[in-house]
Amino acid sequence: MDVSTMRTRLMKADDFEAVVGIDTKVLGSSRPDYYEMRFEKLFGSRYYLPVSLVTEKEDGTVVGFVMGEIYMGQYGIFQEEATLDTIGVDPDYQKLGIGENLINEFVEHLRTLGVRRIHTLVGLDEPKLMRFFSANQFGPSSTIALERNL
Ligand SMILES: CC(C)(COP(=O)(O)OP(=O)(O)OC[C@H]1O[C@@H](n2cnc3c(N)ncnc32)[C@H](O)[C@@H]1OP(=O)(O)O)[C@@H](O)C(=O)NCCC(=O)NCCS
Repeated sequence: MDVSTMRTRLMKADDFEAVVGIDTKVLGSSRPDYYEMRFEKLFGSRYYLPVSLVTEKEDGTVVGFVMGEIYMGQYGIFQEEATLDTIGVDPDYQKLGIGENLINEFVEHLRTLGVRRIHTLVGLDEPKLMRFFSANQFGPSSTIALERNL
């Protein structure tokens, strides 16, 4: 598979179906409601800068995506921290470096915007994803997520 002909670009609202399709293939179940909420927030609010990316083949087929957020604040006060909420690469195109390239482009884009730190969450029961983030220079943060069952 020739990844050199693929390109990574900013995500558009029209990428909704492709993103949901990849997520469904990756997770084995569909969650369009979650993405509807995410797309509405990212493309319908002027308080969020466009930072999410997709990688597409030469024919325009989307094979991977990374979604994140920087909240601009009501008075345009810029945050130096951003979140990486979801990353997904079509299983037919995994292990080709597309995930790493998405992370690198995401990081470079955020760096040019002045972001100094990116937060993400990975479940302890997701060792593959943990290894991927660790290989891409993400480490444990200095805060611990707490929860209480009700
Ligand atoms: C994690 C994920 C994004 C990685 O995407 P990817 O495109 O396969 O990532 P990369 O190709 O950059 O790296 C993956 C592995 O392939 C290896 N690799 C990269 N290029 C390679 C190549 N040309 N040949 C062989 N191996 C290669 C990497 O070293 C890495 O190895 P590792 O598994 O030991 O860490 C993908 O597996 C995925 O979508 N997983 C599901 C994510 C998920 O659950 N998302 C929802 C919550 S955030």
